[in-house]
Amino acid sequence: MYQINPNLHKAETLPTDFYQNPAVWEVAKEKIFCRSWQFVGDERRLFNGPENIHPSWILEKYLDEPILLTKQGEDIKCLTNVCTHRGFLMAQHPAQVRKLTCQYHGRRFDLDGKFEFMPEFKEAEDFPRPCDHLHQLPLLRWRQWLFTAVDPRIDFQAIVNKLEERLYFLDFESFTFYPEYSKTYNVQAHWALYLDNYMEGFHVPFVHNDLGALLDYGSYVTETYDNMVLQIGYASSGDFTFKFPEGHPDFGREVTAYYVWVYPNFMLNIYPWGVQLNIVRPVTPTFTKVEFLYYIHDHDTFELMNGANLAEKTEREDEFVVEAVQRGISSRFYQAGRFSPKRENGVHALHQMIAGALAEE
Ligand code: FES
Ligand SMILES: [Fe+2]
Repeated sequence: MYQINPNLHKAETLPTDFYQNPAVWEVAKEKIFCRSWQFVGDERRLFNGPENIHPSWILEKYLDEPILLTKQGEDIKCLTNVCTHRGFLMAQHPAQVRKLTCQYHGRRFDLDGKFEFMPEFKEAEDFPRPCDHLHQLPLLRWRQWLFTAVDPRIDFQAIVNKLEERLYFLDFESFTFYPEYSKTYNVQAHWALYLDNYMEGFHVPFVHNDLGALLDYGSYVTETYDNMVLQIGYASSGDFTFKFPEGHPDFGREVTAYYVWVYPNFMLNIYPWGVQLNIVRPVTPTFTKVEFLYYIHDHDTFELMNGANLAEKTEREDEFVVEAVQRGISSRFYQAGRFSPKRENGVHALHQMIAGALAEE
C-alpha cells in the first residue's frame, strides 16, 4: 500500500493519503490494531475488591470489541462479553458471581466461558456446539498490566524481553497508582499524527521550554527495535537521574527520562519519580483520546520535578502542534516530507512498521 524506503537518508514519510483515506482507516483497524496487543488494565486495580468479573472493551468506539475479564483464584481469563444465544452483552458492571448468567434469556456459563445451561433448549438438536461457549481471547501479563489481542500476530514475549533489558531495576509493582493525576486528553488529530510527534525529541527545544530545560538535547538518543522505540533523555543537570544498578546498560550515565513506545499505541514515560503510561485510543480519523495513568514511587521527587504540571504543559504543547499538523496535511500542496537522519529515526521506524503491517495479508 505504501513503501517507506528503509534507508533513512533517502526515505519519505507516509503520504497524507494514509491519514486521510477512509478505506485505509478501516484496513489499519484490522491489520494494526486487531493484530497487536492492547492494554486492558492493571490487574491490581481491576480486581482490588470482591468483584471477580469485569466487563470492558478493546478500544471502545474504535475496535469496540466487548470483553469480560474473569478471575478465579490467581487465574484471570479474557472472554468475549457477548452471549452466544442472541448476542446480548453478558455483564454490564463489575460484579462478584459464581457463574456467568445472561440476563436476557438465562443462558449460563462458568467463569472460563464454558456453556453450562440454557432454559427451554431441551429439544434443540446438535446443541451445545463448541461455538456455544464464550470465545476466549488470549491474555498476557507484563508486571501488573494486562494485554489482550483480537488476532495476535506480534511476539509479546520478545517485546517484554526487550523492555526488561532496560527496566528490570524498576519495581513497578510497588509503585502507587494516583487517580488524581490520571486523566484522558482529547486530541483533534489522527492517532498516527500523535505518535509521529511522540517518536522524536527533535521538536523539544522548539515546542517545550520547560521540558527542554530538564533534558540535554545534544545527547538525546533514539533507539529503534522490533515493535518498540526507546528514547533516552539525559539530564541537563545532575539533580534528577535514575540510580542504575551496576551492569545496567546505562550504568554511569545521567539519565532522567526513558520514553518507551510499544507498537502500536502503548507508551511508558519513565522518570526518577515513577512512570506515566500513555494509551493512545483512536476514535475517528481526526479524533484520538490519549489516556495518562500515573504510578509514583517517590512523591517528593515528583513534586520537585513538578511532575504533574510539566506533563500537563508538555501535553498541551504537543496537542497544539499535532492539531495544527492535522489541519496542515489536508493542504493540496503537501503530500509527504523527509526525515532528519540525526533526529527522526524513531518516526521513520514507526512509518516502516505501519507500512509493513498494512502490506501484510
Ligand atoms: S441473548 Fe443471552 S440468553 Fe438470550
Ligand atoms: Fe512533545
